[in-house]
Amino acid sequence: MSNGLPGGIKHVSELAVEGRRVFVRVDYNVPLSKDKRVTDDARIAATLPTLKHLLDRGARVILGSHFGRPDGKVNPQYSMEPIAARLADLLKVDVTLADEPVGDGARKVVNDVRDGHVAMLENLRFDPGEEANDETFARTLASYCDVYVNDAFGTAHRAHASTAGMVKFVAEKGAGFVMAKEIEVLSRLLGNVDRPYLAVVGGAKVSDKIEVLDALLERVNAIVIGGAIANTFLEANGKQLGKSRVEREKLPVARNFLRKAVERGVVVHLPTDVVVATGLEATEASVASVDGIGAEQMALDIGPQTITAFADVVTQARTVFWNGPMGVFEKPLFEKGTMAIARAMAANKMALTVVGGGDSAAAIAQAGLVASVTHVSTGGGASLEFVQGIDLSGIAALRG
Ligand code: 3PG
Repeated sequence: MSNGLPGGIKHVSELAVEGRRVFVRVDYNVPLSKDKRVTDDARIAATLPTLKHLLDRGARVILGSHFGRPDGKVNPQYSMEPIAARLADLLKVDVTLADEPVGDGARKVVNDVRDGHVAMLENLRFDPGEEANDETFARTLASYCDVYVNDAFGTAHRAHASTAGMVKFVAEKGAGFVMAKEIEVLSRLLGNVDRPYLAVVGGAKVSDKIEVLDALLERVNAIVIGGAIANTFLEANGKQLGKSRVEREKLPVARNFLRKAVERGVVVHLPTDVVVATGLEATEASVASVDGIGAEQMALDIGPQTITAFADVVTQARTVFWNGPMGVFEKPLFEKGTMAIARAMAANKMALTVVGGGDSAAAIAQAGLVASVTHVSTGGGASLEFVQGIDLSGIAALRG
């Protein structure tokens, strides 16, 4: 019987793991507070089904993850310690943390893991071999295990030693529960989706989103653009944005995108009104039409007329992919647009509703609506690449 995964990828539940060393690549790249507490443990909690499955079957679990970008150097700021502690709390099992990703100490920790116990390697990016996908580093990681499981969808777009390089040196491999669900749901966006298919794209930088916007033009019926990136598209359409963030060097890219959308018959919805203030720290805000933004004003959220229009488009859609906030939703003064998109998605029970990771995942959590949409991806960059139809290195490695 098919496990629903493409290309012969095995599901962790199909692997023989009893008494064996199982390396699980997880993505525990989570936000920490200044006093080193995990402030959002969604990525850790998401891996519990895979870990419980393995522990219940008496596997010896070895976890590997990166945290932050320590650039191949040991840096205590980026230690896995607080993350291992949170995992131990959630899993209610002791987690032994090695003080290095590879080396004699790491090997000893790995050798000492007993059936049904968990060890974690120190931040894999403390070694330059991880991001360089170095073969020696990959072989060393592979020598720590008999079975490889990838449950790090959020890092699947990186061709690193722990996501790609080591996989060919391990005899048995498969996808964990997180990875399998991400592949299953996100693949639906690449197939024959129910239409209209709507993409809602927001966020800060045109350069971060233009590739996905271009690729989505080939697949969707309409695109809603909000957040700071909308400013550049509005200016490309001849609007005056005052002190708002506009990427002037991206104006030709924005114009070109709007022209291609017309050619392909894809409707692009831009804000018609915005919430403006004198700056991010302002304590007061007002609403302005996009034809009437003052020279000293900054657009920091979409306005009420735009909220109604965008929510209406979301309601009409039968497939929705959302990535990127509509405003500075971390501040109550500028959260309404983003929260309205979250509510409209949650209310649309006729549609496949998928939220990309990163800020939009944080926003749907802030709205308390995670359980009301079809899927909230654990991957930011990874989900953006997946919906473009890119074959992610971490997934390709599981097929090979
Ligand atoms: C993420 O948080 O998007 C992933 O963990 C990947 O992290 P990276 O962008 O530092 O590779």
